[in-house]
Amino acid sequence: MFIFINFVLLFVVVYGDCPQSVPACSAPVARLNDGHLMPRFGFGTWLGLDKYQLPVPVDGEAVQLAVLAAIDAGYRHIDTASIYDDEDQVGRAVNQKIADGAVKREDMFITTKLWNDRHASAAVVAALQESLQRLNLTYVDLFLIHWPFATETKNIRPYADIDYLETWRGMVEAKRLGLASSIGVCNFNLTQLRRLWDSHELKPAVLQVETNLNQQQPELRQFCHSRGVQVVGYTPFGSLFPDRAAPDAPPPRADDPQLLAIADRHNKTVPQVVLRYLFELGVTPIPKSVTKSRIEQNRDIFDFSLDEFDRQQLRSYHTGHRVVDLKIFSDANHYPF
Ligand SMILES: NC(=O)c1ccc[n+]([C@@H]2O[C@H](COP(=O)([O-])OP(=O)(O)OC[C@H]3O[C@@H](n4cnc5c(N)ncnc54)[C@H](OP(=O)(O)O)[C@@H]3O)[C@@H](O)[C@H]2O)c1
Ligand SMILES: *[C@@H]1O[C@H](CO)[C@@H](O)[C@H](O)[C@H]1NC(C)=O
Ligand SMILES: *[C@@H]1O[C@H](CO)[C@@H](O)[C@H](O)[C@H]1NC(C)=O
Ligand SMILES: *[C@@H]1O[C@H](CO)[C@@H](O)[C@H](O)[C@H]1NC(C)=O
Repeated sequence: MFIFINFVLLFVVVYGDCPQSVPACSAPVARLNDGHLMPRFGFGTWLGLDKYQLPVPVDGEAVQLAVLAAIDAGYRHIDTASIYDDEDQVGRAVNQKIADGAVKREDMFITTKLWNDRHASAAVVAALQESLQRLNLTYVDLFLIHWPFATETKNIRPYADIDYLETWRGMVEAKRLGLASSIGVCNFNLTQLRRLWDSHELKPAVLQVETNLNQQQPELRQFCHSRGVQVVGYTPFGSLFPDRAAPDAPPPRADDPQLLAIADRHNKTVPQVVLRYLFELGVTPIPKSVTKSRIEQNRDIFDFSLDEFDRQQLRSYHTGHRVVDLKIFSDANHYPF
């Protein structure tokens, strides 16, 4: 009986009331070090840069439609940021699905991020309140410092001389006020994460960093794993797709024969194999797509597992190459790479 009750409880926690027939619904959840739960698979909403390295315009409703499709496909964890300029679209989609009765607010896990120009500790809460207004939500589940360095304005220059330990005090205040259930950081390197860890009794719950085949983050994953910090992996496809790969990006591409062989053995696609690999590393991938079929495909990774032979091959692609290095900020104090 005891075992049975535990099984039922586990089932409810892991699967919620999602129909099991929808593979997208079987994403497990992680318990964060502050007690809150986070779905172990998420949806990215940054439209990214075009081939001239300029931001893709965010006007229109592409993000809103993508988030609606993602919720329909079973995604419950959505990643946005004030600098993506799409919090309003994310909020409209989430609120529409709540109004329709498709999901409840507490089923959703919404992340947003603090931009570099709001790093003064007294500016943090106000910045989050503005994000919440754009999102039309009363709280976010996760609030992250987007980068460890600070600027005076939204632009690249001038830099502001603000230590991220000061910024963290503002983040702690945002959590204390209930505006963010959990707080964490993005793009901190190991030295910075250790320093933050040692500086304050309230520890980061999440580290969001680039994680893909070329950048598997072995040291950061080990540090985080040993301290109960969840790693969320951004740009999970790295340089997999030729139209997005820089000329100097190391292999593999999605047509790599060895990747195709792994995918064929599991009757899966190469993007699914990559996402499954990251998931099995303990990372929470947040793939972005505005294409309904890909949104559905990417989420369908919870009905197979990789074996040691696959893992050995996939591990071998780690070179340390980064897609997102923000070299334009490389002379900033606290630039992480
Ligand atoms: N914290 C940070 O500093 C930071 C930095 C970068 C990203 N992020 C977050 O991480 C999210 C994901 O990273 P990302 O957007 O850079 O890159 P990504 O998710 O690795 O790749 C997105 C690209 O892959 C394409 N794609 C997606 N699924 C596909 C599939 N199954 N087959 C073929 N192509 C596919 C998408 O095309 P379509 O959309 O045209 O389908 C899009 O061009 C972002 O959206 C953002 O939320 C955070
Ligand atoms: C904000 O969300 C509420 C539902 O929570 C909705 O009634 C309201 O119309 C939304 N406001 C805007 C400006 O979209
Ligand atoms: C392979 O995957 C496709 C698409 O998910 C599915 O329709 C098909 O039934 C699978 N085939 C086998 C042999 O499992
Ligand atoms: C992290 O970034 C800081 C600040 O730029 C730098 O001093 C340090 O060497 C970096 N550490 C690692 C492990 O890359």
